Amino acid sequence: MTAPYLAALGLREPPFSKEIPDAELWLPASKQPVVDGLLDALDERASVVLVGEPGVGKTCVLRALRHRIPAAGFRLTYCHNATLGRRDFYRQLCVALGLSPAATAGSLFYAVSRHVEERAEERIHPVFLLDEAHLLHQDTLEHLHILLNYHWDSRALLSLVLVGLPELRDRLALRRNRSLHSRLHHRLEIAPLTPDDTAEYLRLRLRRAGCDRELFASDATALLHEATAGSMRDLDRLAAAALRETARRKRKLVERDTVARVIEEDTRERDR
Ligand SMILES: Nc1ncnc2c1ncn2[C@@H]1O[C@H](COP(=O)(O)OP(=O)(O)OP(=O)(O)O)[C@@H](O)[C@H]1O
Ligand SMILES: [Mg+2]
Repeated sequence: MTAPYLAALGLREPPFSKEIPDAELWLPASKQPVVDGLLDALDERASVVLVGEPGVGKTCVLRALRHRIPAAGFRLTYCHNATLGRRDFYRQLCVALGLSPAATAGSLFYAVSRHVEERAEERIHPVFLLDEAHLLHQDTLEHLHILLNYHWDSRALLSLVLVGLPELRDRLALRRNRSLHSRLHHRLEIAPLTPDDTAEYLRLRLRRAGCDRELFASDATALLHEATAGSMRDLDRLAAAALRETARRKRKLVERDTVARVIEEDTRERDR
């Protein structure tokens, strides 16, 4: 059943849910080059670091990559728990790869690197996507370049894609991480949304939910952009709250005063 506040605004589903199929992810001119950059890097069998502020769409870009990469030649493995010591990190990787996790750190590492070599024999390029990589333990981070070493470091059999907040870049720049950093040849960044992006994003998500008319007044959109500083997750939360408040006020247009009220409440909640 469609919630009454959605029906009142002519929407058939919540427009700002995170449940958006990979094929329908929005790739404006500001994001397409990041997906293309990832595809180019993986085509070269290279490794990548991708950074961006919270909520700018890093994980969604990985999903867009999953949708676009040729399925036959690549195997993507996604790891989202970076908060593990080295042994547990490799154990997680073993489980994600469908391998039975061994007991010691050495045998876990061996199982993962053997898996990589076996994929090379099948002409499949494995890609390990390490999300939230700014949280990687130092002992894991400084070991990763060893995982990239095959045949006396003469073969590119694996790509690592480290994804995280901008502090990941700062960590990689530390002297103790230079062995890994120098092997991450592609360094990408996702910028926050521009004001035009924000307006386009709102329009697109509303259209997907069944609404073709302009539901947000332009000054309401401008205020949302200012308050969210280009973070789509914040935009999802505040825009959804603004829709609920608009319906409660029995209006058909999301106006600036409604958005201002929602932002005020959100700020009060955050500071409590
Ligand atoms: N390309 C996209 N198309 C449609 N919606 C998107 C897209 N990118 C992001 N979003 C929306 O923004 C939300 C946040 O995006 P995402 O989780 O990718 O951000 P993130 O940069 O990984 O954040 P964090 O640093 O907190 O992990 C998503 O749940 C989704 O609703
Ligand atoms: Mg993320």
